[in-house]
Amino acid sequence: MRTSPVLCLTALAGKSLATFDPREATIASTHHDIYTGLATCRDVVTSFLSRIEKLNNHTNAIIALDPAALDLADEFDEKLAANNATYVPLSCIPILLKDNYDTASIPTTGGNLDLSKSQPSIDAPAVAALKKAGAIILGKANLHELALEGLSVSSLGGQTINPYDYTRTPGGSSGGTGAAIASSFAVFGTGSDTVNSLRSPASANSLFSCRPTRGLISRAGIVPISYTQDVIGPIARSVGDVATALTVMASVGYDASDNATSLVPAGIEGTDYALGLSAGSLKGKRFGLLEGFFNRTASNETSPVNQAMANITAKLHRAGATVVPITDSLYNATAILKLDTQRYEYREEMNAYLQRASLGGEHPETLNELYASKKFVVIPSQYEYVNTALVSSTGNATYNTVQAGIQNLTLALQRTFTAHDLDAIIYPEQKNIVVPIGSASQSGRNGILAALTGTPVVTVPVGFSPASATAPRGIPIGMEILGRSWTEALLLQIAWQIEQFGSIRRIPEWAEEVVDIKTYDAVPSITPNRGNINAAYPLGNLA
Ligand SMILES: *[C@@H]1O[C@H](CO)[C@@H](O)[C@H](O)[C@H]1NC(C)=O
Ligand SMILES: *[C@@H]1O[C@H](CO)[C@@H](O)[C@H](O)[C@H]1NC(C)=O
Ligand SMILES: *[C@@H]1O[C@H](CO)[C@@H](O)[C@H](O)[C@H]1NC(C)=O
Ligand SMILES: *[C@@H]1O[C@H](CO)[C@@H](O)[C@H](O)[C@H]1NC(C)=O
Ligand SMILES: *[C@@H]1O[C@H](CO)[C@@H](O)[C@H](O)[C@H]1NC(C)=O
Ligand SMILES: *[C@@H]1O[C@H](CO)[C@@H](O)[C@H](O)[C@H]1NC(C)=O
Ligand SMILES: *[C@@H]1O[C@H](CO)[C@@H](O)[C@H](O)[C@H]1NC(C)=O
Ligand SMILES: *[C@@H]1O[C@H](CO)[C@@H](O)[C@H](O)[C@H]1NC(C)=O
Ligand SMILES: *[C@@H]1O[C@H](CO)[C@@H](O)[C@H](O)[C@H]1NC(C)=O
Repeated sequence: MRTSPVLCLTALAGKSLATFDPREATIASTHHDIYTGLATCRDVVTSFLSRIEKLNNHTNAIIALDPAALDLADEFDEKLAANNATYVPLSCIPILLKDNYDTASIPTTGGNLDLSKSQPSIDAPAVAALKKAGAIILGKANLHELALEGLSVSSLGGQTINPYDYTRTPGGSSGGTGAAIASSFAVFGTGSDTVNSLRSPASANSLFSCRPTRGLISRAGIVPISYTQDVIGPIARSVGDVATALTVMASVGYDASDNATSLVPAGIEGTDYALGLSAGSLKGKRFGLLEGFFNRTASNETSPVNQAMANITAKLHRAGATVVPITDSLYNATAILKLDTQRYEYREEMNAYLQRASLGGEHPETLNELYASKKFVVIPSQYEYVNTALVSSTGNATYNTVQAGIQNLTLALQRTFTAHDLDAIIYPEQKNIVVPIGSASQSGRNGILAALTGTPVVTVPVGFSPASATAPRGIPIGMEILGRSWTEALLLQIAWQIEQFGSIRRIPEWAEEVVDIKTYDAVPSITPNRGNINAAYPLGNLA
C-alpha cells in the first residue's frame, strides 16, 4: 500500500457539492468526484441507496441491503478529511454481491427461503479482498434459486425482471446482479458461473463480465454446485472496471480451502489486469468463430443475434483481425452438455458448505434436508436434475467417464487453438435473445464449453434487437471471447479494443431517471417482491 498522491486535495473533501451522478459511474469517475471534492463518500453511497430504494420495483433485482454501508462511507470521509486515507484500488466504490457470496454482515441465502437465516460468521475470501481494497458492499442481488438455472426466479427474491424489457428474464443465474448493474444501482457487481451464469446476465443486460480460468479466484465461501465447473468473477459496465475488480478478487491468491487455487502459474499470480489494457491491438489477431454455436433459422428471436455477430465480425476484420470459421461438429453446445458434472458433485459440495463450523444462523445440514423443507422453487425442466443430484455422488461409476470426456474435450479445444493459430474463440453467449418470463428454461446458451474446460471468457455487448412495444431500446446481445487458460490479460485487451469501436451499451430507458439523494440515518430496508413468481414455477414442488 502506498500513500495516495491525491491527498493534497483533501481540503475540499467533506464540503460536498452534491454533483455525483451515479448513472453509468465507473471506478475512475467515482474516484475523480471524491478526490476533487465534488462528492463525499456518503454522497456516493446515498445516491446509489436512493436509486435502489426508489427504482428497485422495476426489476426486483435487490434482495437485501447491508446496514454497514453508511458507517463505512463516513469512516472513509473522516479519514480523507484527516489526511489519513491509504491508497487502495476500490476506495469507496459501492458494489453489489450475488447472494451466494458469504457475508458476515448479512445472511447468505442463495435466494432460497430455507436459507433466509443462514448466517456466515466470516466473509468469503473474495468478499474480504474486495472490502480490504476499499469497496463498500451495498447489499445482495437476487439470483436464480441456488444458481441452478438462468431465469433468475427464487423463492426468497421472486422474479427479477430484465431492465430493457419487462416481459423478459434478465438471464442468469446472476440475473439480479446483471439487472442491478445495468440500472446503475452500484459501480459493479459480482456473480458466479457453473455453466453460463456470469455471461448470460452480461449478455442480457449489455454489460461486460469475466469468467476467470478455474483456480484464479478462490471459491471458498460461495454457495457451491460443482467443484469442476464453479468459478466467480465481476460484472461491470466497462472493461476497465471488470479488470480492476478481477485483479482485486484474484488477489486472494492461494487458498487452502479451495485447492484449485494451486493451479495458478507463478507468472500469473499478482497480475494487475487493469495495467496495459490499452496496450493490445486487434491487428493481426486471429479469432475462431464457432459455427455450431449459432441458430441460423431466421426468427425474431435468433436473427438479431446473428446480425449482431455479423456486425462485430465485420468490425474485427476492419480492425485488421482475421476471423476463421470453425465448423468442427464437436462444437455443439447441446451435445457437450452431456458432460455436465453438476448432478454428481452438487450434493457433496452443498453438504460440505452447509456443515462448515463457520456457518451460523438457521440452516439445513444437508441438501436433502433443504429440499425436504418444501421452501424452494425448482422450475419443472429441472426436476430430473435435482432429483438425480439428491441420490448421486462423485462415487457413481459414470462420473469417471464424464471426467474422461472432459479431458478429451479440453485436448480437442487446445488442438483447435493450435491448428488454426488462434488468439481467442468467439461466439454469441446465447443463440437467441434472452427468453421471456415464464419460459421452461433459459434455452440456447453456449456457456458449457468454458465451464467444462475451465477456460476464461470475457463477455462483451455487441448489439440490440430492434425496439418494440415492451423494449423501447431493444434487448441486449452479448458475445463470448474464450481464451486458453490464464489468458485473461489478453482477453481483456481484446475486449478493451472492442469497447473502443464505440459504445454499444445503452442505459435502460426508465433508469435514466435522476433520483433525488435522500438523507439517511440508517441504511433503508428493502423488500423483494416474492409475489411476482410465474405460476409455471410452483413453490416446494419437485415432482
Ligand atoms: C414503482 O414504484 C413507483 C412509486 O411507487 C411507481 O410509480 C411505479 O409505477 C412502480 N414501477 C413499477 C414498474 O412497478
Ligand atoms: C489514521 O488511521 C489509523 C487507522 O486506519 C488510526 O489508527 C489513526 O488513529 C488515524 N490517525 C489520525 C490522525 O486520524
Ligand atoms: C481438492 O478439494 C476437493 C474438494 O474440496 C476434494 O474433493 C479433493 O480431494 C481435493 N484434491 C486434492 C488432490 O487434495
Ligand atoms: C432455432 O430457432 C428457431 C426459431 O426461433 C427455433 O424454433 C428452434 O427451436 C431453434 N433451434 C434449436 C436447435 O434450438
Ligand atoms: C416479429 O417482429 C415483427 C416486427 O417487429 C412483428 O411484426 C412480428 O409480429 C413478429 N413476429 C412474431 C412471430 O412475434
Ligand atoms: C447437436 O447435438 C444434438 C444432441 O446431441 C443433436 O440433436 C443435434 O442434431 C446436433 N446438432 C448438429 C447441428 O449436429
Ligand atoms: C448415481 O447412482 C444412483 C444410484 O444408482 C442413481 O440413482 C443416479 O441416477 C446416478 N447418477 C447419475 C448422474 O447418473
Ligand atoms: C476420448 O478420446 C479417445 C481417443 O479419441 C477415445 O478413444 C475415447 O473413447 C474418448 N473418451 C471419452 C470418454 O469420450
Ligand atoms: C448491425 O449494424 C447495423 C448497421 O450499423 C445496425 O443498423 C444494426 O442495428 C446492427 N444490428 C444489431 C443486431 O445490433
